[in-house]
Amino acid sequence: MGIESSCDETAAAVVEDGRKILSSVVASQIDVHRKYGGVVPELASREHLRQIVPVVREAMSQAGLQFEQLDAISVTQGPGLVGSLLVGITYGKTLAAAMGKPLVAVNHLEGHVHAVFLEAFQKGQNPKLPAICLIVSGGHTVLYEVKAAGENVSGPFSYRKLGGTRDDAAGEAYDKVAKLLGLGYPGGPILDRLASAAGNAPAPVKFGPTKTRGNPLDFSFSGLKTAVLYHLREHPEYTKGIQQREEALRQGHRTFAELMPLCNSATLGLVREFQRAVLRDLVDRSMAAVEQCGVETILVSGGVSANSELRAWFERNARARGIQVFFPDRSLSTDNAAMIAAAAFAGFQQKHLAGVNLNARASMPLEGKREGS
Ligand code: KG4
Ligand code: ZN
Repeated sequence: MGIESSCDETAAAVVEDGRKILSSVVASQIDVHRKYGGVVPELASREHLRQIVPVVREAMSQAGLQFEQLDAISVTQGPGLVGSLLVGITYGKTLAAAMGKPLVAVNHLEGHVHAVFLEAFQKGQNPKLPAICLIVSGGHTVLYEVKAAGENVSGPFSYRKLGGTRDDAAGEAYDKVAKLLGLGYPGGPILDRLASAAGNAPAPVKFGPTKTRGNPLDFSFSGLKTAVLYHLREHPEYTKGIQQREEALRQGHRTFAELMPLCNSATLGLVREFQRAVLRDLVDRSMAAVEQCGVETILVSGGVSANSELRAWFERNARARGIQVFFPDRSLSTDNAAMIAAAAFAGFQQKHLAGVNLNARASMPLEGKREGS
């Protein structure tokens, strides 16, 4: 069993042999955080407390199993919001102790890596290692070199961090720009659809590539968000549309079909240009990492990897270079517990178990030692 509660999704899943998903249940808290335009940590922990028991029960019921039939319990240790992580950890520890099952601690980022493998195995594919992995979500934008640490294709893996964001994560930039444009929270899915709908709308502004001094594989998205903010301030013609959309959101009209008619051509063009700037950065730096490490595989995971144009761009670039790119299914791109159970499998086999003193870690490098190892 995998349990995930690092941010604003309470999730539980049952996975067999680290490869086959028997159940995966995700309770999203979007409705709770929406009116604040982002995740409120205190509310998140309270919501996890409310959800954890029914979510775990639902995962067991969908898998058609009793607790006694589980081989191990795994839980996200970090990185994430400490109060949120503690709910999953405390529940996982208690369940493991009560049932006499081994407990495995998982790094959330390693979960995102395994989401790609879960999907690939399901399709009968075997991503070749070493690989570059881009994890791109609301909390993270980071590039790793992933290597097999043993014989087994499903792990354990070893990781080397090649670059990360200096400021905002890419998903955070999506969320902030959507907020500026009166498009609600979370911003990624709606901006994704509006960018596709923009077609050849004229570009009201062009955003150049972001520059990061020092490590060329680092990212920076806060300048892009500020550029959007300044553009909106300097062009009052956007104001009416923003006010109309904010009013629509207040009345609960937040779907693409409801918001699209309130977006003029300049707004659509702006969204498309913003998305292009983000994707160009993600693709260019990932391809530079591929070149630097001489690998033939790229793995892309995390909430933003659900983006349709991102997938098309990566596929096009990978094809042109003769390398392979793998993504998780969209349901496995955003936070879920199946990826946590899958990531735990190697640790379970190698008896890297966590004890009753397992604690949450707000930041937790992927290169570090495993709990219990
Ligand atoms: O992985 P995730 O569920 O949670 C974190 O670990 O952060 O990612 C959520 C993030 C949000 O910022 C959301 O706006 C973004 O992923 N996102 C997208 C799309 N779907 C979700 N960004 C761009 N395009 C999408 N289709
Ligand atoms: Zn995540």
